Amino acid sequence: MFEQIQAPSADPILSLISEFKNDARTDKIDLGIGVYRNDKGITPIMAAVAQAEQTLLKTESTKAYQGLVGDENFNLAIQSLLLGGTSAMARASTLQTPGASGALRNLADLLAFARPNATVWISNPSYINHRPIMLRAGLAVQEYAYLNPVTKAVDETAMLAQVAQLGPDDVLLLHGCCHNPSGADLSLAAWQRIAELAQQRGFLPFVDIAYQGLGDGLEADAQGLRLLANAVPELMISTSCSKNFGLYRERTGAAILVGEDASHAHNGRAKMCELARGSYSMPPSHGAAIVSTILADDQLNGLWRAELDTMNLRINGLRSALVEGFRIATQGEDYDYFGHHKGMFSLTGLSDAKIARLKADYGIYIVSGGRVNIAGLQLNEVDALVAAVVAVNR
Ligand SMILES: Cc1ncc(COP(=O)(O)O)c(C=O)c1O
Repeated sequence: MFEQIQAPSADPILSLISEFKNDARTDKIDLGIGVYRNDKGITPIMAAVAQAEQTLLKTESTKAYQGLVGDENFNLAIQSLLLGGTSAMARASTLQTPGASGALRNLADLLAFARPNATVWISNPSYINHRPIMLRAGLAVQEYAYLNPVTKAVDETAMLAQVAQLGPDDVLLLHGCCHNPSGADLSLAAWQRIAELAQQRGFLPFVDIAYQGLGDGLEADAQGLRLLANAVPELMISTSCSKNFGLYRERTGAAILVGEDASHAHNGRAKMCELARGSYSMPPSHGAAIVSTILADDQLNGLWRAELDTMNLRINGLRSALVEGFRIATQGEDYDYFGHHKGMFSLTGLSDAKIARLKADYGIYIVSGGRVNIAGLQLNEVDALVAAVVAVNR
């Protein structure tokens, strides 16, 4: 059987990593893969995470199976982090998952079970895995208008006009904050309008939030989601601890259902457990144990929040430096969008030919499509990046 299987072409992001590694230039800049880097260029283990791991090493007494729902302390803590203060808390149920990727797939499987004719609407552009995850679950996928390629802001008029046409068989997949890949987020007014339209038209909102705390802070980044959660009868949420806890390889995330009442949400979660039993069965425990240890302890919680703020400040500082650098270099405001975008990414609109030139002539690595990871940059590299981008765009 295996002889008929062709190896798929290499993942373009992974090939870019190895090309970068093998590039001998000392002034090369990696803006490719989507991981946070600090001002020393590394993706550190957060101090709160390292301290929680020490605690776990001393207190953990068994490696026996944990069960299909994962760690209930984690589930409740992560639910509160996202939905704290909303009426949805009382009618929500949360399942620990292997990352947000696992949550997206579990929620997609639940949709395929409960609403097999559903069409999932994703933004144009969207996170690269949204489409394949939904398709693999057997769902139909369509795109809604999102980014205005000229202003590099959300075209809310075009988007809302399309959303106003959705109906009960439609699922609207939104990015909670720090849109990947564009960096362009919805205004609160747009979230409000989406909440009204969901109630009028009966479509199901589904919010994927993988960067809470990396835009404007933990509370501000959840505002749109909370507004929606207070207003709509049903909501699906996928969330990740990869970025805001730096737990990428520990595969830590959650799927949250908000139902019309608590029993609906609990039944939905029980069904997701059954579906997960047919694939990975139970989520890995270590990352979730770290998160629940941090969130249950005042000192660790404070430390984690302070570290997250530092990450956020670094990204926003780089964004301000880019805006200033481009203004000086171009005597114009064409690159001010770097300052309007939120989170780690900005979509530059650079063509593949220009991206190839940046790599060949300047040692600047950017993924095809033009998404740059701002957190991959150092302050002392801003001028070089500005000069190179201005040169290829000339
Ligand atoms: C929007 C979005 N959703 C989900 C994910 C998946 O996150 P995880 O690493 O937790 O699986 C990512 C990761 O880049 C993402 O950007």
